[in-house]
Amino acid sequence: MKKVMAALFCGIMAAAIAVPAHAEKIGVSMPTKDLQRWNQDGDNMQKELEAAGFEVDLQYASNDVNTQLSQIENMISEGANVLVIAAIEGSSLGEALDMAAENEIPVIAYDRLLMDSDAVSYYATFDNYMVGTVQGTYIKDTLDLDNAEGPFNLEVTAGDPGDNNARYFYQGAIDVLQPYIDAGKLVIPSGQVEFDVVATPTWATETAQSRADNIIGSYYADGTNIDAWLCSNDSTALGVENSLEANYTGTYPIVTGQDCDIQNTKNMIAGKQSMSVFKDTRTLASQVVKMVGQIINGEEVDVNDTETYNNNVIVVPSFLCEPVFADINNYKELLIDSGYYTEDQLQ
Ligand code: BGC
Repeated sequence: MKKVMAALFCGIMAAAIAVPAHAEKIGVSMPTKDLQRWNQDGDNMQKELEAAGFEVDLQYASNDVNTQLSQIENMISEGANVLVIAAIEGSSLGEALDMAAENEIPVIAYDRLLMDSDAVSYYATFDNYMVGTVQGTYIKDTLDLDNAEGPFNLEVTAGDPGDNNARYFYQGAIDVLQPYIDAGKLVIPSGQVEFDVVATPTWATETAQSRADNIIGSYYADGTNIDAWLCSNDSTALGVENSLEANYTGTYPIVTGQDCDIQNTKNMIAGKQSMSVFKDTRTLASQVVKMVGQIINGEEVDVNDTETYNNNVIVVPSFLCEPVFADINNYKELLIDSGYYTEDQLQ
């Protein structure tokens, strides 16, 4: 497989790709319909791949690893020429990936890295570490940690340990905040900060909510203020926000998120969430469609990172798109003016 360090932009139009006369089949495997973003990712991929002349086999796996395995195996039996996979659990698709390799089918890991396999050709994602950096920096700047006296109280909710991204998000944010924790300017009253302790299996809102219920009940029932709650994404932020609403009486904290899901954007407008990291799913889909076209046409495939994403077997050549933060001040421009949402969707 050919690689090149050349890609400049994410937003390349699918229409520009030259496709062979007969339609090649692209299998697109998505983790779940339960979270808004994967529906958007799937829809965008399908639209753009079809516009580029490909046939598309799009499947959602209900967050069930065995379902995803058999869906991918099916795609291979049905003659997929390229596979695009957003894994439920990065390490659990070995059998399907072996089968893809035996059939010489290139595989693009979509958004989440596929682990423990040499049958992964490329990885396309938003820069996961940078997502965390953006969240951590938002907390640092909003609390003015370099100048304010503090100390400030912080709690942390991270993502799914089975999703390789979750540790990058966590680490990016913690690397920004750690110096202030070490200096005593940020204090974590629950003492819960290690990734394994703050992780949220399957990114479930209910799990994040019940952990927040426990923390608020145990450490903040006496009126102690929470100044910031670092949440790795919107589904976990939603759980924390529900819990704050039900249990917490102090000054409302900074709450971070990721994805700009509709409910979270509404919460942002209502002052219940401070920011979300915006990862425009249209941008990622366009980039992946471009990479698929390059693979099919035997061209060099654009990547811009050949060092960061080691899946325990190989370093997977990657294309990292750049995430940006959204808050009450810029959400209109980012989300409405760009056509991502209509104003009505956010009412
Ligand atoms: C994605 C996030 C998403 C999370 C939960 C991660 O792999 O990068 O955008 O919020 O999964 O679905």
